[in-house]
Order: sequence, then structure tokens, then C-alpha cells
Amino acid sequence: MAIRPVLRMGEPLLLQQAAPIEHFDTPELHALLGDMRDTMQAMNGAGIAAPQIGVSQQVVIFGVGKNPRYPDAETVPYTVLINPVITPLSEAKEDGWEGCLSVPGMRGLVPRFTRIRYVGFDEKGQPIDRVVEGFHARVVQHECDHLAGILYPMRIEDFTQFGYTDVLFPNQDVQDD
Ligand code: NI
Repeated sequence: MAIRPVLRMGEPLLLQQAAPIEHFDTPELHALLGDMRDTMQAMNGAGIAAPQIGVSQQVVIFGVGKNPRYPDAETVPYTVLINPVITPLSEAKEDGWEGCLSVPGMRGLVPRFTRIRYVGFDEKGQPIDRVVEGFHARVVQHECDHLAGILYPMRIEDFTQFGYTDVLFPNQDVQDD
């Protein structure tokens, strides 16, 4: 397994629709997931999508553990999600700050559906079917957007709320991306 370079905004591959995975539990899929996990951990990310390391396939991983620096932050279980489909469970959206490993050093305020159902498969092809809300729902929507060629700045509605992390939050110890 290896830490792979992360493609940055401007790279055409990040704007492509990713292809579905057809074969589960293969050495190639496990190797891809190992590289994604290593890369996400090395960059302190909350999630990563395969296109961000140059693989245009419908694979994302995410997870946020307990962090002593942010005792009140919501946790999200570590999840491998393949060929995902998201269904909003209401029209309601809420704004939240997002960053992205492909847009380093920046943050933007992004509206996301508050409550969603997501379905897909894990690396062995076992179905996943969850109803989630809040931060968990936000992370899933952000990561799955990558599979449709959408980066979070394309979702920003108020561009006064988009900027460099250290300028926006000068006195805070903000998570990397
Ligand atoms: Ni991202």
C-alpha cells in the first residue's frame, strides 16, 4: 500500500463521471482501497474518493474518529462505499464548512441535505443501506459528489463564504482538509 499523490482542482479527471465497480473482493480493489486509506490518513482527511488519486471508479472511503481536540465533534464510522446512490429524505438543507484534499488550504460554506439515505456495497459486495443526518450526511454527499465530477466549490451559493483556511479561521486549530 502507498500514499498516492492527490489530484488538485483543475485536473480534468476530477470532473469526470466515475465508472461503477463490476467485480468485488479482487486484489485490484483491495489495493486501491489500501492506497486510498493510506493517503487519507497521511493527509488527515475525513474522506477520499478514488478519482482524487486518479482512478475514475465509484469508490469512496470516509470516517471520523474521536478527536480529543474536538470532543464535541460528531464521529462517523469508517466506511468503504462502492457504487453509491444517495436519496435525500427531505428538502431541508443546512450550511456547513467544507474542505477537500483536492482544494488544499481552503474552506467554503456549502449547503447539503440534512437527512439522507445512502445505499451501495462494501469491498466484498455486501450491501450497505443507512439513514443518516448532519455531519455524517454531509461527508457522504461530499465524497459521492466526487464520483459525479463535482467539487464542493461548485456547490457554494455565497462566495463571500469561501477562502483560505488560515485567513477565515486565524485563531483556530482547524483540521487539515
Ligand atoms: Ni473532497
